[in-house]
Amino acid sequence: MANYQRCFLNCNFNEFQKGTGWLEKPTTKAQMEIEHYLYLLNPINKKILVVGVGNGRFGLTYGLDESNTIDGITICEEEKENAIELYYDKVYLINKYNPDTFNIDKYDIIVDVNLKSYACCDKHFKEYIYNILHSLKLQGHLYSHKDGFTYDTTGVGFYEQKDDDYIKELGFNINYMDNILDIERIK
Ligand SMILES: C[S@@+](CC[C@H](N)C(=O)[O-])C[C@H]1O[C@@H](n2cnc3c(N)ncnc32)[C@H](O)[C@@H]1O
Repeated sequence: MANYQRCFLNCNFNEFQKGTGWLEKPTTKAQMEIEHYLYLLNPINKKILVVGVGNGRFGLTYGLDESNTIDGITICEEEKENAIELYYDKVYLINKYNPDTFNIDKYDIIVDVNLKSYACCDKHFKEYIYNILHSLKLQGHLYSHKDGFTYDTTGVGFYEQKDDDYIKELGFNINYMDNILDIERIK
């Protein structure tokens, strides 16, 4: 069993991001690589979830078949409004690390570039990983990216080998294709 810190922090999930900070930034290089990878896979009729909708332009550069539906998660009200205005179906305004409000549909494909970057503590990161991976349908895939593993905003946000070990212990398959992490639900 991977060794994680217990939650000694009084994690506060009431604060939501205000303003348009992420909204106005270009899509990260990491997400662009995943979007290109998905374009090559050419999913049809899939339910896709983008965790961290940012500027809301997921899939627009390379294009995705219109049969797919795109939902999102964000911590920022303005991002939610923008994404829905663009073409997102449903956008959850939640803090993804808050297990009490984590209640989403099941997805064929989930994209989360920053799995751990904004984690308040190890305990809530682990709970998030459990919840998000169990939001995959059987044989669904979650895609993340190594660039996101080196971006830490909270002091616990660097993704490590023990995180891969934990995901494997949960019974998911992990593959790396260059910088892209592909986690598959196999049971
Ligand atoms: C740096 S932006 C990345 C946007 C986009 N995924 C990309 O790679 O271009 C971070 C995104 O994560 C979202 N975010 C940050 N912390 C979050 C949290 N705790 N729960 C849910 N979303 C969060 C922000 O709202 C924002 O959309």
